[in-house]
Amino acid sequence: MQIQKVLVVGAGVMGGGIAQLIAQAGLQAILSDIDETIVKKSLDKTQKGLEGRVAKGKMTPSEVEQIMSRITPSVGIEKAEEIDFVIEAIIEDIEAKKKLFAELDKVAPPHAILASNTTSCSITEIASATNRPEKVVGMHFFNPPVVMKLVEIMPGLRTDPETLEITKELAEKLGKTVVTTRTEGPAGIASRVLAGMLNEAVWVLAEGIGGVEEIDKAMKLGSNLPMGPLELIDLIGIDVHLAKTKTLYEKLGDPRYRPCYLLEKMLKAGYLGRKSGKGFYDYTQDPPVPLKF
Ligand SMILES: NC(=O)c1ccc[n+]([C@@H]2O[C@H](COP(=O)([O-])OP(=O)(O)OC[C@H]3O[C@@H](n4cnc5c(N)ncnc54)[C@H](O)[C@@H]3O)[C@@H](O)[C@H]2O)c1
Repeated sequence: MQIQKVLVVGAGVMGGGIAQLIAQAGLQAILSDIDETIVKKSLDKTQKGLEGRVAKGKMTPSEVEQIMSRITPSVGIEKAEEIDFVIEAIIEDIEAKKKLFAELDKVAPPHAILASNTTSCSITEIASATNRPEKVVGMHFFNPPVVMKLVEIMPGLRTDPETLEITKELAEKLGKTVVTTRTEGPAGIASRVLAGMLNEAVWVLAEGIGGVEEIDKAMKLGSNLPMGPLELIDLIGIDVHLAKTKTLYEKLGDPRYRPCYLLEKMLKAGYLGRKSGKGFYDYTQDPPVPLKF
């Protein structure tokens, strides 16, 4: 199947970057959210990022114009009737995703594949909200999607091999390297392994063994990581990380994934990480300042 037009639902941290990748690959993207100001903000961010590449001599202004012209802003999912492929990137909430997939199933043409960028929701459960479970698949990009090389593809129990193959072809067309999990498991491979480490970093902070700065420094220099674990949680979003860890704890019952109470406290305070200006660091300062907990 030749994919021409892709609907990306959710124009947050991930959706905007995914739409950019699609447009950069020469395909048509429709970027949708619940509110047009969110979509506009996302498109402005993409435009700014691309202009930064022009300033570095890596792209021409006309290339930027062409890429931006291939992203159509939208609200809701009406435009799903025109597409071949959907990538859902809304909040990490199984009920919200099931509701959306049930609606998409009604509007999207029968041949369309419905993929979810979920970190830890069950693909089989999301697929159960549709009448096309064989065409529902996990397609997990990493943050930031434009930069990170991996896409992890995950089948649900009823996903067709053909769906996996088409999804792989699309990811490769977007310039990504694919790892397909053999079966469905909460959070797949990379996010699950990472979740344990990120969680441990928050516990170490909560126990007062190190502050934000010491923990990130120790992990960067001691484990050769490009970014400290607390910096990484800020990039992912406290809400997204907490939702993933809760799902892992619930599904696996393994204390390794027991989310630290500090994450709940931060969520309640509106400390969502980079996207809200404050998380483990204060991003309203330049350079960001580690906060005390
Ligand atoms: N942040 C990460 O590092 C990361 C990495 C990989 C995968 N993911 C996954 O990607 C998905 C999105 O994460 P994010 O970080 O971009 O979240 P985000 O909070 O930045 O963005 C989510 C967007 O979805 C929109 N939304 C909510 N309900 C909607 C609906 N019914 N229809 C349309 N739009 C709706 C919100 O308005 C918001 O703009 C989640 O499933 C998350 O687990 C996130």
